[in-house]
Amino acid sequence: MIKAFCEDPRPEKIDLGVGVYRDEAGETPVFAAVKAAEALLVETQQTKAYLGPEGDTGFLDLMSPVIFGEGAAGADVISVQTPGGTGALRLAAELANAARPGARILVGSPSWPIHRQIFAAAGLEVAGFRHFDPPSQTLAFDDMLSALERAERGDLVLLHGCCHNPSGADLSSAQWAMVTGIIADRGVVPLIDLAYQGLGRGLDADARGVRAVFDTVDEALVAYSCDKNFGLYRERTGALFVRSRRRSDVVRSNILSIARCLWSMPPDHGAAVVRLILQSPELRASWEDELQAMRRRLGEIRAALSQADSGLAPLSDFDGLFAILPLSGDQVEAMRRDGAVYMAASGRINLAGLTPGLIRPFVEALCAVTTVRTA
Ligand SMILES: Cc1ncc(COP(=O)(O)O)c(C=O)c1O
Repeated sequence: MIKAFCEDPRPEKIDLGVGVYRDEAGETPVFAAVKAAEALLVETQQTKAYLGPEGDTGFLDLMSPVIFGEGAAGADVISVQTPGGTGALRLAAELANAARPGARILVGSPSWPIHRQIFAAAGLEVAGFRHFDPPSQTLAFDDMLSALERAERGDLVLLHGCCHNPSGADLSSAQWAMVTGIIADRGVVPLIDLAYQGLGRGLDADARGVRAVFDTVDEALVAYSCDKNFGLYRERTGALFVRSRRRSDVVRSNILSIARCLWSMPPDHGAAVVRLILQSPELRASWEDELQAMRRRLGEIRAALSQADSGLAPLSDFDGLFAILPLSGDQVEAMRRDGAVYMAASGRINLAGLTPGLIRPFVEALCAVTTVRTA
């Protein structure tokens, strides 16, 4: 699709297929705070010697309050740096499979397609429930609840911490409380994928689900990515956090031995950059400002789409980079052919591919193919 987009000579073409943030100029810039931290790192780093399988513990200690709140993660939360959020998900899946071979994990549909592949590759049995209904653009919360109510002790459930990929439809605080209650009652182990903290409603607001779960249950995992909210993508910066109230020593040694076999030591650069940003009040403020600007831009695009067409009205209630439209493969193809709009075959769009000036042509292209469908 990237190749087809680049080769398309139409000047009005719109790329909504990418998986990364873009600013109004269509760029995915390096954060100013990252540039400054990188300069500092070049100046001050004395060695590239191995750090150990946990990675950069300073990075982990500084990320922990960002995720769990100040002073909230106790000694029973084990943390390890991973190659991106993907590495954290794979490590979590391997850990779950080591504890209970072939354990079942419930994954809402639709989800980031790689979730299922990672879990299956680690040996887990993947079961589904409906998370979102694209035609009505509504969260299928009842389906999630009934899947959890039917779950067995020891099953896992994957939950998106915020900015659900691909729908943008997150749980409210009341819904998180209900989910947490059922999980705790039934002995289901939550694995929360937090890949977009700060791109939804704010750093604290986007962590409310993680915090509700970690305050309540004895065993929980968070697969975290810094690749979107620090714009570090190719630096592969992430972490896995695991709460195990009863067996934290065993869990910790299992995590480290699994990590040793997967990648031995995680890559250093991105985590060192994040550590320097979080250590410096100035760099931290600069990072938070830039994150807020990204969040604001996504909110403005959502509001404009929601006003432009009644079918898109629900988008302003959702968060993050993505939305999923109820389009068939043929309609996605027609949008590309007739409207020069490129998107994933699933109907997922990246809102950061739009600017205020592109809202109208995008909505016109969308209306053209949806009219074809109803004709
Ligand atoms: C929901 C979700 N989880 C995890 C990831 C993986 O992030 P990373 O690039 O840090 O591996 C992505 C990346 O697109 C994602 O969308």
